[in-house]
Amino acid sequence: MSVDRLRLIEEEAREQLAGATSVAEVDEVAGRALGKRSPLGDVKRGLGGLDADERKAVGRALNDTTKAVEAAVVARRAELEGAEHLARLEAERLDLTEAPPSRGPGHLHIVTQTIEHLEDVFVGMGYEVAEGPEVETDWYNFEALNIPPHHPSRSMWDTLYLDAGEPESTLLRTHTSPVQIRWMQEHPPPVRIVAPGRVYRADTADATHMPVFHQIEGLVVDRDITFGDLAGTIEAFCQAYFGRDFHSRLRPSYFPFTEPSAEFDIQQPDGTWLEMGGCGMVHPKVFEAVGYDPEEWTGFAFGFGIDRMAKDRFAVPDLRELFTNDIRFLSQF
Ligand code: FA5
Repeated sequence: MSVDRLRLIEEEAREQLAGATSVAEVDEVAGRALGKRSPLGDVKRGLGGLDADERKAVGRALNDTTKAVEAAVVARRAELEGAEHLARLEAERLDLTEAPPSRGPGHLHIVTQTIEHLEDVFVGMGYEVAEGPEVETDWYNFEALNIPPHHPSRSMWDTLYLDAGEPESTLLRTHTSPVQIRWMQEHPPPVRIVAPGRVYRADTADATHMPVFHQIEGLVVDRDITFGDLAGTIEAFCQAYFGRDFHSRLRPSYFPFTEPSAEFDIQQPDGTWLEMGGCGMVHPKVFEAVGYDPEEWTGFAFGFGIDRMAKDRFAVPDLRELFTNDIRFLSQF
């Protein structure tokens, strides 16, 4: 009789353990199944009233049942502990994956897109990208570029001076050419750099002029560099950037820091010419200013306006449109 009861007690304990969903619940079930006031306790207490043979048989069965329930508690506890541990790990997991790039409504300004495209093309042609400060001294912006104080050629650039140091000693750079000087001071030849950046002139804004605009400077210095290398580079760049249907031309011009000097234009497939900028062979005086030996080294430099390129490439009629920050205009590109 008691042995059957024990089997039922064990079965019930197993069922309750299987139904427990947490370690705490398992402990509760264990307390109820194994404690003093449990059905097993009742059986134990009843042993005294049994005759010797029965007591022996029930006692052994009680022992077995108690061990079986204890083992079932340990097993279920371990099972739930493992699951709880995993759940905790999952909950505490840190997501270290990088956020995907925003696909929001914003995008790069077309001047920035143009600068990045230009850098890509020149880096592909073996150039390094250099940078220089927008606030410059007179020496870097003019003197080292063979433009002495009071030289008439200074009127080529309507300079914005800053109220700092000696009068007219500190200015907003009028072109990216001072980056040539800074680079050559820091690096021995050979040189092959481009330097894009913002420049400033006291120009009145109109369809093709802005008081703040962008240029990209190029400088190549090595032994035996010729004007042919300059012309070939400009043609190669022009086709890499604009496409195979575009061609360049050079027109004689004057810049104090190059000799000979030229201006270069790009012919578009419709036959019209787009003025790009200036170029020429680096003047020996410029090499002397940075401590390069002009007998040993030759080079060419070029500098052109980026905003006008962006304007033409994206068929914008007026340069001022690029900088009005009108979202309806900017979101077209
Ligand atoms: C220069 O600034 C020379 N530093 C270029 C150079 C570099 C010559 C290296 C030789 C060797 P220029 O003043 O012409 O040159 O300006 C170059 C280009 O900048 C112009 O062709 C034009 O495309 C652009 N630019 C000039 N002024 C403005 C302006 N106000 N707004 C927009 N673009 C301008």
